Amino acid sequence: MRTLLWGVIPYVVLVLLAAGLAWRYRYDKFGWTTRSSQVYESKLLNIASPMFHYGILFVLVGHLVGLFVPESWTEKAGVSEHTYHLFSLYGGTAAGVLLVLGIALLLYRRRTNAPVFRATTANDKLMYLVLFAAIVLGMVAKLTHASGEGYNYRESMAPWARSLFTLQPDTDRMAGVPVMYQIHAVVGMALFALIPFTRLVHMFSAPVQYLFRPYVVYRSRDPRRVGARPERRGWEKTGS
Ligand code: HEM
Repeated sequence: MRTLLWGVIPYVVLVLLAAGLAWRYRYDKFGWTTRSSQVYESKLLNIASPMFHYGILFVLVGHLVGLFVPESWTEKAGVSEHTYHLFSLYGGTAAGVLLVLGIALLLYRRRTNAPVFRATTANDKLMYLVLFAAIVLGMVAKLTHASGEGYNYRESMAPWARSLFTLQPDTDRMAGVPVMYQIHAVVGMALFALIPFTRLVHMFSAPVQYLFRPYVVYRSRDPRRVGARPERRGWEKTGS
């Protein structure tokens, strides 16, 4: 069972992720979208969406540091285990709370706004369930083991996660890991496997080119709009 969970499933997930993304690009290039519901409702979305996305970005950075920066490195850099624990406890929890509030608001909006709910497919519902479960289980695992020095996953889960990349999964490291952390990691892996087949696929098409493209100039045609001025004859300079 340990080999299956921590030595086989992670690779199945990686293959599903890579092959799924290639398949989606090949067969559903034009369906590669967030399927945004902003046209139905934007007031709540403008608050909930940044909360969720900043929250998940901070949590992602926390996972990358926690799982992929070895304890020996931070110690050499002069960061004691105690300092690391405090940083992870307060920083990680703050990011987690932002994320929980963000997803709770997004789900509330999706359920209570009729057009948004009508635009929600069975695929979306499954995705939200797994996403919500991964987030809540991560918080529960962390907060139920927060007393004292907390649970030091950097000596168990982190070396296991790193060993996956050497193609020699150290499944023994997962032996004594508290069950809540184990369930969290399994649900997290399930979420990774779902990415190519759901709206989450949009995370791989961050519009980086937006940073470099020229400005788009918007002008109102409505003369009554604030800031509008009478049209002048001839060409106008852009950016004025
Ligand atoms: C296989 C993948 C994953 C592994 C191995 C993993 C591992 C961990 C570990 C070890 C912690 C505890 C941190 C601590 O005790 O200080 C944690 C916390 C957490 N995880 Fe994950 N995780 C995974 C995927 C995910 C995913 C996909 C999400 C969200 C969509 C997520 C959301 C959270 C949250 C919200 C917390 C609590 C807050 C925090 O520490 O930042 N995790 N995870």
